Amino acid sequence: MKHFFTFLAIFSLMITGCNPSKERVSDSQMKEKAMEEGNRITMETQQLLGTTLKSTIQEQGIPEAMRYCNLNAYPLVDSIERKYSVIIKRASTRFRNPQDAPDEEELKFIEAYQDSLTAGKTPGVFVEINEKEIHFARPILLNDAVCLNCHGQAGSDIAPENYQVIKALYPDDKATGYKMGDLRGIWSVRFSKDDLIKAIDSGNESR
Ligand code: HEC
Repeated sequence: MKHFFTFLAIFSLMITGCNPSKERVSDSQMKEKAMEEGNRITMETQQLLGTTLKSTIQEQGIPEAMRYCNLNAYPLVDSIERKYSVIIKRASTRFRNPQDAPDEEELKFIEAYQDSLTAGKTPGVFVEINEKEIHFARPILLNDAVCLNCHGQAGSDIAPENYQVIKALYPDDKATGYKMGDLRGIWSVRFSKDDLIKAIDSGNESR
């Protein structure tokens, strides 16, 4: 019996003692950190995509900008993923690139955003704590008229010759017919729980 208690003491030390930070970091601290990092990372990615998109439109026109997005949207997002060791996605139910189709959790966020927009509310951010990851989401609203050139009404907002380019690159495109103010999709960022805890811990130590 004595041995059993010694074993129990060592065993509980092993599970708690080896990883004390897991005990110290609360869910609300994790949510707060994911919100802060998620906003920062998605703003940076959005800015990177937006700046290159606008300069390509100005210098080379819509069809070339379309081809540019086709080739470069993913590599640009990948570069930010590597920089922060996270998984970033632009998910949409009416997507252009089939890789942007939402998974189950992303679909849940999109539906909630759609509901709050329909109810006239301003949609905020979501942070979901899962077993091994923290999932952050933020809405992407179509609130710049430039977007309509490639995501608006085909034949009017989107010139017929540009629509042909879309169809050639994306035969199953679903990403047209949007209006100003519509929900175009979401930013979805997945953090590893362990990485986020480490970031919170190192932030606490340096304070
Ligand atoms: C020059 C044409 C063009 C313009 C202008 C444009 N987009 Fe796109 N958009 C694309 C292309 C092409 C893709 C698919 C990129 C890929 O293959 O990864 C895309 C993909 C997206 C996606 C990812 C989901 C999906 O449908 O695959 C979002 C979100 C998006 N665009 C939002 C916007 C917003 C918001 C604006 C305005 C700021 C905008 N786009 C302006 C061409 C454009």
